[in-house]
Formats: sequence, C-alpha cells, structure tokens
Amino acid sequence: MLVTGPRGTKDILPEASGNWQYIEQVVRDICRLYLYKEIRTPVFEHTELFLRGIGETTDIVEKEMYTFTDRGERSLTLRPENTAAVVRSYLENKLYADTLLNKLFYIGPMFRYDRPQAGRYRQFHQFGVEALGSKGPAIDAEIIMLAVQLLRKLGLDDLTLYLNSVGCPQCRPIYREKLQDFLREKTLHLCSDCQSRFERNPMRVLDCKKEKCTEQTQGAPHIADCLCDECSTHFNQLKSLLTLAEVDFILNPRLVRGLDYYTKTAFEIQYSPLGAQSAVCGGGRYDGLVAECGGQSTPGIGFAIGIERILLALEKQNLLPVISNAIDVFVAPMGSDMQGIAFKLLCKLREKGITAEMDFMEKGIKWQMKQANKYSAKFVAIIGEEEAAQNKVMLKNMLTGVQELVSMDEVQQKIELDVEA
Ligand code: HAM
Repeated sequence: MLVTGPRGTKDILPEASGNWQYIEQVVRDICRLYLYKEIRTPVFEHTELFLRGIGETTDIVEKEMYTFTDRGERSLTLRPENTAAVVRSYLENKLYADTLLNKLFYIGPMFRYDRPQAGRYRQFHQFGVEALGSKGPAIDAEIIMLAVQLLRKLGLDDLTLYLNSVGCPQCRPIYREKLQDFLREKTLHLCSDCQSRFERNPMRVLDCKKEKCTEQTQGAPHIADCLCDECSTHFNQLKSLLTLAEVDFILNPRLVRGLDYYTKTAFEIQYSPLGAQSAVCGGGRYDGLVAECGGQSTPGIGFAIGIERILLALEKQNLLPVISNAIDVFVAPMGSDMQGIAFKLLCKLREKGITAEMDFMEKGIKWQMKQANKYSAKFVAIIGEEEAAQNKVMLKNMLTGVQELVSMDEVQQKIELDVEA
C-alpha cells in the first residue's frame, strides 16, 4: 500500500516551486530595502517556550501544538509560530549586545494541528519580521509599511488593513473587567469555547467568528475607551504616521489576535476573496515577551504572512509570473556510440555557464527534437557519426531553422553570440 503524506501537508511540486522562489525573492528584496536581516531558527523548540510565549489559554497552545517527547525525555514542540523562537534566539545569542535595534526576518514552515481546509494547513509557511528594541510608534508604522509594500509589489489589491490597540498590563485589566461585566449575563448564549474564554481570556470572545457570539458581543465596550495615556498616545501617533505614509486602515475594536503576547498595536491584513481564511498577514507589538522569555524588558513588534494564502490570492488575481524554463542548447547524440562525445560537449558548455541538456534516454532524433521543443531550446547540437568524425556538430537554430556545421570549440561562441544578441 502506498504511504500518503500526512493530512494538512502539501508537497511543493517542481512546477509550483518557481512560484515559491518568486515570492521568496520579492520578500528578500523588500527586506534588503528595509534592512531586515534573515534569521533561521530550528523547527522545534522546548515546549515551555511556547507555553510561556504564546500563552497557555490560547487555542494554539491548548489544541494545536505538535508536541512530542524525544528519546531523552524532553518535551519538544514543532514551532506553531516563530516570534517566541526568534526572541529565544535573540536572548540566547545576545543579539542585543550588537545593536540597539535588531531587525530580523524569517521564511519557513510552521506547524499547527488545525482542521485543514483551503488556506489552512497543518504544515504551512510564514514570512515574518520582528523588530526588537524600539518602543516608539515609528517602528510599528515601518513594520506595517513593509507588509503593505510587499503585498503591493506582488500586485495584490483588494486588501484591507485592520488596526487596533489591545492595551498593556496597566490598562487591559480595567477593560477586561468592563468586558466581563458586559458579557456576564450573556455567557449561556455563547459557544462552548467562548464560555470557557469568559473567565480565562474574555477578549478572545470578541474575536470569535461564530454567529451567536458575534451577535452577543454587539455593543460590547471598546478597548479604545479604556487605554491608558501611554497606549492611547502611542496608538494616535501610529495612526498619524500611517496617514502620513498614505496607508489606508480601518479601526477594528474587535481585533484581539490569537496570541497572548500582544500589547498596544495589533493589526491584520485581509484579502476577502479568500473567504474564511482571509487573513494573509497578522502582527502586533509584544513589549512583554522578551521579559517573559527571561530577558531584560525589551519592546518588540512584528508580523507574519502566510505564504500559501498569498499564493492563493495571487492565483485568484492571475498575478503569478510566467516562469521561463528555456534552455540555450539541447545536445542530441544520434545513437548510443555518440553519448560520450555528447556528454563531453554538455559538460564543457555547462562549465561556461550555458544552460544545456542532453538526451539521457538514448532515444531517436525525432523524440529528441520534441524534447528540445519542450525545453524551448534555442539551439540543438546534433552529433552523428559524420559530425563526430570531423570533430563537429550540426547546430540548429530552433527559431530560424538554420542549420550549420560548426566545430566543437565554436559551439559555445555561436550560442553566446546569439544569446547576447
Ligand atoms: P498568526 O496570525 O497566528 O500570527 O499567523 C500569521 C499568518 O500566518 C496568518 O495571517 C495566516 O496568513 C498564516 N497562517 C496561520 N495559520 C495558518 C494555517 N494553519 N495555514 C495556513 N496559513 C496560516 C503569528 O503567527 C505571529 N507570530 C505573527 C507575529 C509576528 N506577531 C508578531 N510578530
């Protein structure tokens, strides 16, 4: 019996990998522009990191982690997200010693045990950025701009940026109490998840997508009315900066995000044609996370973009680039005796940086010409006994159809001349 891939995982097949490379290149270019440097952390971490970092009452920690005990009896978890891991690495490697502001990015797989559907997988990939060290709103604005500019560069429109402030440990408890007062009499009408959230994490009730919960939370108090002076000033300054940068946003007081580490700024970018999984980007500020992970109190902000969702959006808008796989030359030996000479030519051409392929299947010339067309080869170098005897090849220009007998040493030159022209 064939062993299939695990549910919720996807193979990125050769014909699709070019699209991934394209997105990754755009990501790398934009990070270079904004001076964010790549960090690569392991795909598994000690489970405790995520318990502390993401929060024990979040859906991710309660229901979605791939946790296992290794042969040394350690509890490890495949990373469900990368912010906590980047903070761990920042502290462990003392990145704070080199510079006051660390601007980092990552691209890689994340793992969440969730119900798979279009745009939601158990192994998925994120591009994320984290800026550690600055508490001012300008870095929040830069981070949001980076996400917006990336999505614009990919050509995506129809995007909506939602913005909120979730306060800080000073003002959030006051709001929490106000919200609980509002929800207390409605708890029986909430979904079972939200009934348990009421005590442990009431703000998450606002974020529940179930209809009965959205109905019950109509008219709930807004956190904006409870923000302390510091959070309120920060939020107002961020809004002004985004306005200066001509970035449109919609204030969404219900946006609380699914991870506990957020303080102050929270944002999401949605692409509504994706339906239930329309969030392509989510992020926010996490001023308490570094201290939570054992470091000195250090502010941070970042976001992550789901690459699969971006790909779905690009496909929907027909924005994926046509990737050319054209080669310069296809070397066609006529008969197995010519394989050696053909292989020698192939190696020589490749060494000179010419994209070349040959027939490894020992087929006839007709099949080989078809192959050459499949590769969109600019030239075919045919080597038969006659040509080989003169140390020559029959070089066919596939665009013009012109064939000429050229010496082995000339092949490279002829192709290069044509490629340059
Ligand atoms: P998140 O909102 O959990 O945030 O995930 C960010 C993005 O990852 C989502 O908007 C979505 O595009 C994608 N994503 C999440 N789960 C899945 C899934 N199961 N399948 C496919 N795509 C998915 C975080 O992960 C935070 N670490 C972001 C952050 C960085 N906050 C501050 N810094």
